[in-house]
Amino acid sequence: MEETLRKLFEDAKNELKSADNMKTLEELRIKYLGKKGELTKILRGMGSLSPEERPIVGKLSNEIRSEIENMLTSRKDDILKKEKEKKIKSEYIDITLPGNRIDIGHKHPMTKVLDEIKEIFLGLGFSIAEGPEVELDYYNFEALNTPPDHPARDLQDTFYITKNILLRTQTSPVQVRTMEKNKPPIKVISPGRVYRSDEIDATHSPVFNQIEGLAVDEGITMGDLKGVLNLFAKRLFGSNTKTKFRPHYFPFTEPSAEMDVSCFVCGGEGCRVCGYSGWIEILGSGMVHPNVLRMSGIDPEKYSGFAFGMGLDRITMLSYGIDDLRLLYENDLRFIKQF
Ligand code: DAH
Repeated sequence: MEETLRKLFEDAKNELKSADNMKTLEELRIKYLGKKGELTKILRGMGSLSPEERPIVGKLSNEIRSEIENMLTSRKDDILKKEKEKKIKSEYIDITLPGNRIDIGHKHPMTKVLDEIKEIFLGLGFSIAEGPEVELDYYNFEALNTPPDHPARDLQDTFYITKNILLRTQTSPVQVRTMEKNKPPIKVISPGRVYRSDEIDATHSPVFNQIEGLAVDEGITMGDLKGVLNLFAKRLFGSNTKTKFRPHYFPFTEPSAEMDVSCFVCGGEGCRVCGYSGWIEILGSGMVHPNVLRMSGIDPEKYSGFAFGMGLDRITMLSYGIDDLRLLYENDLRFIKQF
């Protein structure tokens, strides 16, 4: 019986040595020390032993039991330690590894210029007004002092939807809509898309963008117009920028003027961008025509105003030295990514 016990101890030792997880360990505990385990089985046979042998076998079996228990505990500690190490290793994050680059986009060059322009006028107390792109002939022409037989209509090739409905050819109709709805003082800019029946080329597109401006109050003069637009030019193109106002004609302003800025590329010396003149035409402007004020419900005897309109596409092209308008609309990433 002693021998059986020693054999059992050897077997248990070997099996325990190779146990490498908690499940196997528990199975071994049940196998050797459990109520129906190997050791219990052997001890059941104690009755057949002589009284001299009994204490010896009893002692031995107790020793074996506690040995096995000790081994179980130490294996258990080992296994738990190893499992913990494994877990720590698997959860380790190497923060020095370069991450996956996420490609984020950026603003279109035209949006950037628009944001700058908005910022300048908002800073001067202007707010933003909006109007429809599908517009009534009345707002696009008639109320802007441009009746049906007016020769100025020829300058703008219009997309008509019906006789009275068209795609707006300019952002100027927003002036009328704003004056109809608000009492002076009025100070708004209105950026938006406009449409003209033009063939696409390097400087023309059937859809492009304008920014309209309007200020109406008592006592507004041409001096206000020049002051505001001069400041605007310096903020947008740099503080050394000079401005020049040339007389012009627009049906909805009287007097009217076009504004040139000193070339921001050559500083006025003459270069390719300014066509060697040193000046670049930037916008149209003027004092709001009394007829326009009157048709919009504002008394021209009491109030006066100035207005201006500029092409966002043109200003963007000039600012970034882009020489083909189509590049702004094709959205070829190889081009867009440069900004
Ligand atoms: N609407 C004009 C155009 O499309 C631009 C313009 C000129 C707007 C003078 C104005 C202005 O408000 O006062 O050519």
